[in-house]
Amino acid sequence: RLVSHVLGIETSCDDTGIAIVDTAGQVHSNVLESQQEFHTRYGGIIPPRAQDLHRARIDAVCERCLEQAQLKPEQLKAIAVTTRPGLPLSLIVGLRFARHLARRHQLPLLPVHHMEAHALQARMEHLEEINYPYLCLLISGGHSQLAMVNGPGRLTLLGETLDDAPGEAFDKIARRLRLYVLPQYRLWNGGRAVEHAAQAAQNRDAFEFPLPLAQQRNCNFSFAGIKNNSFRAIRHRERAEHTPPDGIISNYADFCAGLLRAVSRHLMHRTQRALEYCLQQRLFGETPPTLVVSGGVANNDVIYENLERLSLAYNCRCYRPSKRYCSDNGVMIAWHGIEQLLQHQNASLRRDIDKIDIA
Ligand code: KG4
Ligand code: ZN
Repeated sequence: RLVSHVLGIETSCDDTGIAIVDTAGQVHSNVLESQQEFHTRYGGIIPPRAQDLHRARIDAVCERCLEQAQLKPEQLKAIAVTTRPGLPLSLIVGLRFARHLARRHQLPLLPVHHMEAHALQARMEHLEEINYPYLCLLISGGHSQLAMVNGPGRLTLLGETLDDAPGEAFDKIARRLRLYVLPQYRLWNGGRAVEHAAQAAQNRDAFEFPLPLAQQRNCNFSFAGIKNNSFRAIRHRERAEHTPPDGIISNYADFCAGLLRAVSRHLMHRTQRALEYCLQQRLFGETPPTLVVSGGVANNDVIYENLERLSLAYNCRCYRPSKRYCSDNGVMIAWHGIEQLLQHQNASLRRDIDKIDIA
């Protein structure tokens, strides 16, 4: 069978990512320019600055990507680009660049929903094992969702967060805790820093958090309670220890362990409800029950291993993408493009490039 290559462009937030993937799931190149270091200095992402950085880098990122794959644009089957959701100023840079590339080389342009790309990514490495439909827990810096995945463009939402996303909660709490004053965590995202710090805990029961939405019989999430309880607990410890304004509480590792357990328990509790619902309603049909965990927070081994244990207890298989593909990158966008090709059997790919827009 003939192999086709798709180039994927991701600029929805603060990473400029471009990658080339083929129909067999092989990654030919994957170039990622992070803006993390820049934004860390300003305590968060400033959208116009993010746009400037995307603009300044996207040409070189694309050139390096084609060079690494040793491919010419003419050898591509299509260009895939994130069109939503994300920061409009960032999305538009990727889309304009993709339009220009598609026009110049007369290639189809495939719009990609960023969260859907996260949800499909695990199939790239497990195409034989992960069949539609499957249950997906999508946990990132911007989202917390449980969805039935039936194919590209065909997700059924079962539940979502009522307030913060788990990655967002980790990021905000880590900043409030001032984990970044420890040099090893200076450039790490909040979730990764909390996971690492928790490993050094002496007393894992020092910080307890109530289970959110414990009484609600649905699949929604809420992380605002955990966040506010965290802020309160940190303030309390800081007062007791007279922590200086640029210092960190002494038992921060114990705090991180408690926080990680609280987030993990909540995710498990809601995923359990979704699994029971899907099995009861026979939503998996003839397909073996499968749970896919994706998005940046799926990087977390404690969270993933807990979810894996839960799903195995229901005779449900559990997967996540390799760590390098859990967080934002061009590969997942290119793979979503491949999924679109597979779905449409190459038909109806000719779309009016100008009609594809952000949001
Ligand atoms: O999917 P992603 O790269 O970007 C979004 O679409 O949001 O996810 C980024 C989020 C950040 O909030 C970060 O704190 C979280 O993923 N994250 C983690 C870990 N690595 C990244 N959270 C928990 N544990 C980790 N190891
Ligand atoms: Zn993402």
